[in-house]
Amino acid sequence: MSAVDTPPGAADGSAADGQAQQTPAGIGDVVVTSEQLRRRVEELGAEISGDYPDGESLLLVGVLKGALFFLADLMRAIDIPVEVDFMAVASYGSATDSSGVVRILKDLDAAIEGRHVLIVEDIVDSGLTLQYLLRNLGWRGPQTLGVCALLTKPARREVDLPIRYVGFEIPDEFVVGYGLDLGERHRNLPFVAALER
Ligand code: IMP
Ligand code: MG
Repeated sequence: MSAVDTPPGAADGSAADGQAQQTPAGIGDVVVTSEQLRRRVEELGAEISGDYPDGESLLLVGVLKGALFFLADLMRAIDIPVEVDFMAVASYGSATDSSGVVRILKDLDAAIEGRHVLIVEDIVDSGLTLQYLLRNLGWRGPQTLGVCALLTKPARREVDLPIRYVGFEIPDEFVVGYGLDLGERHRNLPFVAALER
C-alpha cells in the first residue's frame, strides 16, 4: 500500500499523529491523537485483564452511542473471558450540558445479578449521567460494578463518583470524535478534538 492509500490514523507509526490528520470545518485543536488513544486503550485493556478474577466472565456495559469505538477497541485489548451488552440513555438538557434527568432508551438484554460489571463510558462531565447509571445498575445486584471512562473533565464534576479506570483527563472544553458527537456529528473522527473557537 502506498503512503497515499494509508487511511488517516492508521497505526503505521508515521502519520498517526492527530495533527497530521485532516480536520473538518468547525473542528479545532486535537486533544487526544489517534496514537495516544491506541496506546492508552492497550494499557487499559491490560490493566483490566489483570484486575478481574480468572474464570468469571466480565461483562462490559457499553453506553451508546458515544462509547461505540472505545468499547470496540477496549474489548479487543482485553484477554480474559469477556462479554458485552449495551445501554442507551438520553440525558435531558442542552446540546452541551446534561441535567441529570436520565431516560433509558435501550436497556440491557440480560440480568446482571452476581456478575462482574464494568460500565464503559465515553466521557464523564458533570457526572450526573454516570451517577444515575451506577444507581440503576447497582439495584440489580451485580457482584462488582466498576466504571471505565475514556475521558473525564474533573473541572466540571458536580458529583463525586468512583471511576476506576480513566483514559485521559481533559480540560473543560467540549470535545468530539472517536464516538463523541455534537448533535450527532463528528463521531467518526479518529481522534478527539475541541470545537473551533
Ligand atoms: P454528564 O452527565 O454531564 O457527565 O454528561 C455525560 C454525557 O454527556 C456523556 O456521556 C456525553 O454523551 C455527553 N458529553 C459530555 N461532555 C461532552 C463533550 O465534551 N463532548 C461530547 N459529549 C459530551
Ligand atoms: Mg455518553
